[in-house]
Amino acid sequence: MENTKSNLAGTGKDTHSLLESLSQGNYFSRLEGNELHCENVRISKLASAVGTPLYVYSKKYFTDRFQSLTQALSGCKHKIFYAVKSNYNINIIRHLHELGCGADVNSLGEMYRAEQAGVPADEIVLGGVGKSAEEISYALDKNIFQFKVESLSELYLINQIAELSGKKARVALRVNPDVDPLTHPYISTGLAENKFGIPISEAEAIYLDRSLSHIEFTGIDMHLGSQIASIAPYAEAIDKILAVCERLKEAGIELHHMDIGGGFGVQYAGENDFPVTAFRETLLDKLKHSGMQIFMEPGRYFSANSAALVTKILYLKTNGEKNFLVVDAGMSELIRPSLYGAYHQIIPVIPSGSEAKVYDVVGPLCESGDFLGKEQTIAEPESGNLLAVLSTGAYGMVMASNYNARLRPAEVLVDGSEWKLIRRRETLEQLIQNEEDL
Ligand code: LLP
Repeated sequence: MENTKSNLAGTGKDTHSLLESLSQGNYFSRLEGNELHCENVRISKLASAVGTPLYVYSKKYFTDRFQSLTQALSGCKHKIFYAVKSNYNINIIRHLHELGCGADVNSLGEMYRAEQAGVPADEIVLGGVGKSAEEISYALDKNIFQFKVESLSELYLINQIAELSGKKARVALRVNPDVDPLTHPYISTGLAENKFGIPISEAEAIYLDRSLSHIEFTGIDMHLGSQIASIAPYAEAIDKILAVCERLKEAGIELHHMDIGGGFGVQYAGENDFPVTAFRETLLDKLKHSGMQIFMEPGRYFSANSAALVTKILYLKTNGEKNFLVVDAGMSELIRPSLYGAYHQIIPVIPSGSEAKVYDVVGPLCESGDFLGKEQTIAEPESGNLLAVLSTGAYGMVMASNYNARLRPAEVLVDGSEWKLIRRRETLEQLIQNEEDL
């Protein structure tokens, strides 16, 4: 797929020195023996102890990232709901909650995960374009903080279920402001052509509908897309939403907050992170007269550069012009390269020091689309060597699958010189545990 605007596509250029320039470079770095470490732990030690493929996360990355975002937004009254879809290991949700995040969830399963991680219901917001009656009832029963509603029919269903259970549902309409987030088409959500949200032109009438007796409108919400590089799309959409809020105010409806969604872009190949400090100025300026609190739902911003996927080289092969490294992870562990043409820098865990060559790094699955990197320059590796696929903390493990009946990988969380297994590798028994053996 052609990719013009987003940072998702691979460039194929030599990005060997990139580790140092990535924000990830402070957490994944070459220490003793030039070996790649996560914080103070040797990656090769983790691979020996747990096996490969393996996701390795830096706990400090999440901490620092949360703190720097919060600091950048100081003076701007806000609440962060971590978009757990980007990485929902309960230990990671819990860590971000302990730092101060609520949870933005998109399904019953994510709601359950957030609860299991210890996030109280009044810090959970439920979104999703296709909420089922079961999900709505569950969320009402738990008394979650808010539903983000994406269609009129969904709103009627929530009203009906709330009435039956004698409750009032707190609701923010997710409006579709028809703004181009200038990102990859698959992760663009704020355009009229996308399935998401209620057309902004229809929102006002819905807020004014007095027949919805079991709905309490608390806020207004948007989410423009993911991996957004600049402030401009947010600014344009916020202006459109503020115009709606102004008219609602005149009609006597004051909303408590504006949820601006997630989508803050990160570094994959040396690009800049989303400019949060400048964003604060935009938010303060635009919202100064509104009295509304700002909610936000970043996922990738916290998780993308927290992790490396560690994989072992199985075979080297050359087909005509092409050099391949066949490794023990593929699209079942990390689908982003296959699905979006996304670029992830791949580096040796222990550099060989020998001459670098250009390789396609491919997985063991039966698909030509099964690759982790194309035309990556890697110092001449040998079978058995370990590679680290960088910037894989967001939408990596959560999109892993059992395709080709592969076992989903293990996850390790590093904290200084300590590490803990936070998810065991799946077992063969687990692969068939839900099947009836007739
Ligand atoms: N809020 C809503 C309503 C969302 O749909 C999303 C992401 C987020 C927040 C968090 O967005 P973030 O801050 O992480 O960009 N699988 C794709 C990304 C899909 C994003 C889906 N929605 C990828 O690997 O790039």
